Amino acid sequence: MKTETKVFSLVAGGLAAAAVFGFLIWLFSLEGTRGLAAWGWRRIFLAVAVVGALPLLLALAGLPWLRREEAIPGALFSGTAIGLAALCIVAVAIGFGEIELRARRLTKPRPTLKLIEPAAGIIPGGPADPESGAMLRLSISSDPHWGAETANATARTAILGAIAAAQPQRDAFFILGDNVDFGLNEAAWRAEALELAAALPDIPIRPLLGNHDALLHGERHFASYFFPKRFRSDSGSPYYYAIEAGPATIIVLNLLWGTESFDANQRAWLERRLAATARERPVIVLSHCFFASSGYVDEKTGLPWYDHADTLGSVAPILERYGVDLVVSGHNHYMELLERNGLTYALVGAMGGTPDPVPSYSSPHSRWFSRAVYGWLDLDVSAKGIALAFRDETGKLLHAAFVPAKR
Ligand SMILES: [Fe+2]
Repeated sequence: MKTETKVFSLVAGGLAAAAVFGFLIWLFSLEGTRGLAAWGWRRIFLAVAVVGALPLLLALAGLPWLRREEAIPGALFSGTAIGLAALCIVAVAIGFGEIELRARRLTKPRPTLKLIEPAAGIIPGGPADPESGAMLRLSISSDPHWGAETANATARTAILGAIAAAQPQRDAFFILGDNVDFGLNEAAWRAEALELAAALPDIPIRPLLGNHDALLHGERHFASYFFPKRFRSDSGSPYYYAIEAGPATIIVLNLLWGTESFDANQRAWLERRLAATARERPVIVLSHCFFASSGYVDEKTGLPWYDHADTLGSVAPILERYGVDLVVSGHNHYMELLERNGLTYALVGAMGGTPDPVPSYSSPHSRWFSRAVYGWLDLDVSAKGIALAFRDETGKLLHAAFVPAKR
């Protein structure tokens, strides 16, 4: 085997490994990729890493034949290494280019939306409660999955129409993530923004980032549609922050698949923020990923999609310690009301995404459960507490509850 071939195969193998591992490091630097690996894609990422290392390993395996007469095995190893390395480098270039190009796509003109800037807060506009004073009226739903063929667009539109028509007018509408089915698909973000602009021109809107939204650099589209660069938050993050809202404080957490993004910074900010909140103010926590929930075991991964061990294990104790009143989440496509360790949890993954399977696991914390009914949750918040009203897509009341202020 010629020395040049050996050197060339080693260089090509090294370049391929650098390209593939660099690509993986870049992917893991994006919002949500660590969660994607933890919740089903670990083997796929491992397979990519193995393929990336293969050309270099083959080139190294060809080395023993360097000074021998029989050049054929060496040439075979080196040739395969060079060919595979070329394929890896081309595949990475295409993958990276495609993701970057699609993430930068920006269709104009942009729809005009009435977005909530966290640092600016929410000012209740409706009549105060005669007994308890200022009343904050929030509407919340989650997991509309724009862009998914299986999503129920009719229900989605009905929900927006019913919220727009509600009297007194709602002070804000939150979508707790999975706005779109695949974050890299700009057309889905645009469809959502156009529909929100048309349906809710007068109601302040605040979409959160969900695990589907973040898929493959999707957070870029989230920011360009729903979190403009000029927007400020107390944490400095577009994904987790506090919103002062009349009589209440709203805390938005960045929990996509689980606690993969709940790093030391977010934890420290949360503790600081809760400690600084006046004891008498009702505190409502919003997140994409759920805490307590009924659910099922995912067929493909064998992983449990119910009472979430990570969020319940490492985030819930903080919320309990500071006397948070209510946690509202999506991620599981059900509506549910639960109570655990004195904390009330509501699930509202009902804005159009395909309903999740009939639960094989019923949470011991469950107080009320609904599946395959689309809708949203109204919260009427005063200093006295929080009135919850789960509604179907027409606005019909499904279930009501009241959480008295406890702080
Ligand atoms: Fe979802």
